[in-house]
Formats: sequence, C-alpha cells, structure tokens
Amino acid sequence: MGSNLPRHMSSPVEELEAVVSEAPARIDGATSVDEIDEVEAQLLGKDSTLGRVRRSMGSLDPEDRPVVGAALQKATAEINDLLASKRAGIEAAAEKARLEAEWIDVTLESVSLPQGSLHLIQQTIDEVVDIFVGLGYQVAAGPEAELAYYNFDALNTPATHPSRLESDTMYLDFGDPADEVLLRAHTSPVQVRWMENHEPPVYIVVPGKAYRTDTIDATHLPVFHQIEGLAVDDDIQFSDLKGTLLQFAREYFGPETTVRLRPHFFPFTEPSAELDISCFNCDGNDLDCRVCSGAGWVELLGCGMVDPNVLEAVGYDPGSVSGFAFGMGVERIAQVRHGISDMRTYIDNDIRFLRQFP
Ligand code: DAH
Repeated sequence: MGSNLPRHMSSPVEELEAVVSEAPARIDGATSVDEIDEVEAQLLGKDSTLGRVRRSMGSLDPEDRPVVGAALQKATAEINDLLASKRAGIEAAAEKARLEAEWIDVTLESVSLPQGSLHLIQQTIDEVVDIFVGLGYQVAAGPEAELAYYNFDALNTPATHPSRLESDTMYLDFGDPADEVLLRAHTSPVQVRWMENHEPPVYIVVPGKAYRTDTIDATHLPVFHQIEGLAVDDDIQFSDLKGTLLQFAREYFGPETTVRLRPHFFPFTEPSAELDISCFNCDGNDLDCRVCSGAGWVELLGCGMVDPNVLEAVGYDPGSVSGFAFGMGVERIAQVRHGISDMRTYIDNDIRFLRQFP
C-alpha cells in the first residue's frame, strides 16, 4: 500500500496506527475538562495527523483511498471512545468533588428545650371542665374584682352574714354595701351574672380564682380555685343534682365511687347539702388511711337547689324554672385524689412536686 508515497516516509496507515497507539497515554494524562478538550484538539483537530490524513484523502490513489479511509475511520472511532470515557471519568470525579464540597448534614440535632407541663391545679380544672362539657355544660367566667351585690346580695346573703365582715373577705372598697368592691370569695357570683344575661335553660361550669383572708396553712390558701356549677331548666330536681355529681365523682375518682349528701346550709341554695364521696383508697377499712382517716367518706363540695330568691334576683320565675348549683375547691379535690397532705406544696414551686404531675 501507499505505492505513491516516497519510500522513506511512513504510510498514512502507519501514521494513524502510531497516533492510536500513543493516544491512551496522552488522553490518560488529562486531569480536567479543559485538558481533555486540548488533547482532543491535538488528536482530532485540523492540525492533527488525523486532520491532515482526512484532508489528503482526495489526492490519494484511488486504490489506496478505501484502505486509508477505513484506517482513518477506525482511528477516529477509537480515539473518540477513549476521549468519551476519559471525559466521563473526569466529569464524574468533578461532580463527586462538588457534592463533597457542598455536603451538609441535615440530620444535625436541633437545640431541644426542656418541656414543662401545666400546673396540677390547671390540669385538674381542665379535667373537671372536660367532664362537665361532656355532660353538655358550657364554660363561663366572671370578674375576680367583684361587686358585693353579686358576691353576696344577689346570692341571698344577708347584710349580717359573717362572711361579709372586713376580716373575712378581701375588700378593695369597703363601707356602703351598695357600692362595695371586693375580691370574690367564691365563684358563685358568676351564676348571677350569667343568668342576668341568658334565658334558661342554663348549664354552666365556672372555673376561676377565689380570695379569702385565710392564713396559709396545710388546708387553706388565701388565693385558691373553685369550679362552680349551675343548671336551671323547667323541671330540675334534687335527684338531677345527685345523679350529676355522682357521674362527676365516678369520672374523676373512679367508677366504683359512691356519693352521699349531708344536710348543710348555704344562703343561695335551699335545701343545701355537702357531698361526700366514698373513700377510693380504703373503703373505710383502714384507720390510718391517708384519704379518709378510716371514716370511709371524704367531704368534697357544697351544693343544693337554687334558692327561689336567687332566681327572682335575676328575673327568672321560680314558679316555672328550678335549678341546682354546686361549688368545689380545685385544691381540695386534687388534694383528695392525689393524696397531697399539705396545700402549700401547690404554691411552693418545688420542682420535685411539679415533676410528679407531668
Ligand atoms: N360558694 C360556696 C363556697 O364557696 C360553695 C357552694 C355551695 C357553691 C353550694 C354553690 C352551692 O353553688 O350551691 O363555699
């Protein structure tokens, strides 16, 4: 072959073979996309051996043309393959380097703050309110700074009642009963405020703070919490009161609980009673019982049928509606259920106490 070439010069086929045999080493030496571009231009470009052979095709002897053409095609294909695989390798390495440089650890832990919990008194309010909401009651609220009229007069409490003394109730303005202002001594005034603004039927519970001049001890706090209840409808009877409070007692203290009502006196209910629950701890069988001291019963709350004078004070007709009411101390019922021996622990803010009620 190459019969028209001078003897001392290698043939185009040999030249192409030489380029192909050197190609792997040259291509392998490239370490970047720029370098591979440069090697490509050197191997396949206009001034390369392959470029020159390609241009000379037209002037070759016709019988040499197919042989040189085939060799040119083969050399071009082999070099292109080598370039493509080297380029892929360089690009993959570059991508890997980029990913490693941009890597962020999305699993890094955030700074977690310690989680607190609601105070036992708030938990107790929520639980009791939930029980009554389940029975169809609405939640009502009223002011803590209250008129003597709502705290006493409208609740059928005579001017001579001992709780009206300045020594028993915290007055903000004391003197003429007509415009005395005080820190409410119970949540009962909200009964009156609600009925003044709503027609019967009424089914409400009123959680809130109450204030008395009591000295702090194991069973008294001057600022404490009550939950008031009031039901007024066209035929409310004493049995409704007992059934409702039994249901509450069973949900709050346990399904085995029984209740008893002892006659008592409150100005705003007639008849009035105190509700005791059976001791869920010892059932009356343990003289050292921390809950009932062996009595078998635990005093829980005050209640009764709404006094007709109270209904009249709000403009209701005691001849066509009747109702019952009750008021419980939140500190008291939580103390009974959880066996808390001293109410002061509620306000000590001792973390060891608070953590027991997560
Ligand atoms: N207000 C009363 C108290 O603080 C508790 C009470 C008793 C509320 C009888 C009532 C009730 O609604 O009917 O001691």
